[in-house]
Amino acid sequence: MQNVKDTAALLKKETTLRPTLAMVLGSGFHHALAHFDSVREFAYGELPGFPTVGVTGHAGKLLIGRFGKVSVVILNGRAHYYEGHSMDKIVFPIRVLAEFGVRTILLTNAAGAINRLYMPGDFMVIEDHINFMGVNPLRGPDVPGLQRFVDLSQVYDPKLIKRIEQAAKKSKLRLRKGIYLAVSGPNYETPAEIRAFRRLGADAVGMSTVPEAIVARQYEMAVAGLSCITNKAAGRDPGGLLHQNVLATGEQKKDQMAEFLLAFAQL
Ligand code: HPA
Repeated sequence: MQNVKDTAALLKKETTLRPTLAMVLGSGFHHALAHFDSVREFAYGELPGFPTVGVTGHAGKLLIGRFGKVSVVILNGRAHYYEGHSMDKIVFPIRVLAEFGVRTILLTNAAGAINRLYMPGDFMVIEDHINFMGVNPLRGPDVPGLQRFVDLSQVYDPKLIKRIEQAAKKSKLRLRKGIYLAVSGPNYETPAEIRAFRRLGADAVGMSTVPEAIVARQYEMAVAGLSCITNKAAGRDPGGLLHQNVLATGEQKKDQMAEFLLAFAQL
């Protein structure tokens, strides 16, 4: 984990701001920085150990700045497991944020709605998750000073769930609540898989967030999760599922997302 400390040290050297709040902007949410005053920006390529980011709609920049008076560090774009990165690489930025001093993290993503009541354009506050990726970001040698057997009884902080609800009200998001199930992707699911996931208790499905949430809990950060429902999950929409449509929903919601991020930071 030497690298983690080095990269965090680099951030500390380059800025005087010391945000304790971080936001990870997934697909769609990267448009939502209208109210963010960036003080310092780093392409992931400038940060040793950070993954490269490939998927369309992900920028791959770490920004340090402010929403109003509140200092925030933003990961704009994330690496996905389906791109071929190791799990260690995917969660490296979260470890760096922890070393940098972040104590609260908002993880955002695009997700398909399994719950029949949830529609594209809705948002879902994540209450809990199901790790269906088949891998675990904590697998590997024990890291001195960090927990080995992390308790996930309450990954998503109840106070932050309330804060998301309040910010959603302010920014007029249609907010649902539910269980996010993570798959490794990159294919979208089959209708049979979606029926199975529904029976398991999942409300939405996506290809990210869960590894980051687990590692954030290893550092005892307070974790919040918000999904933008970009599409009905496979089998719910006779037209099938296109990545362009997934991106288009995020694009349509960008102003509301920008309002939401500002409200969440300031609450
Ligand atoms: N499935 C998996 N990941 C997703 C989806 C989906 O339907 N929509 C956005 N990300």
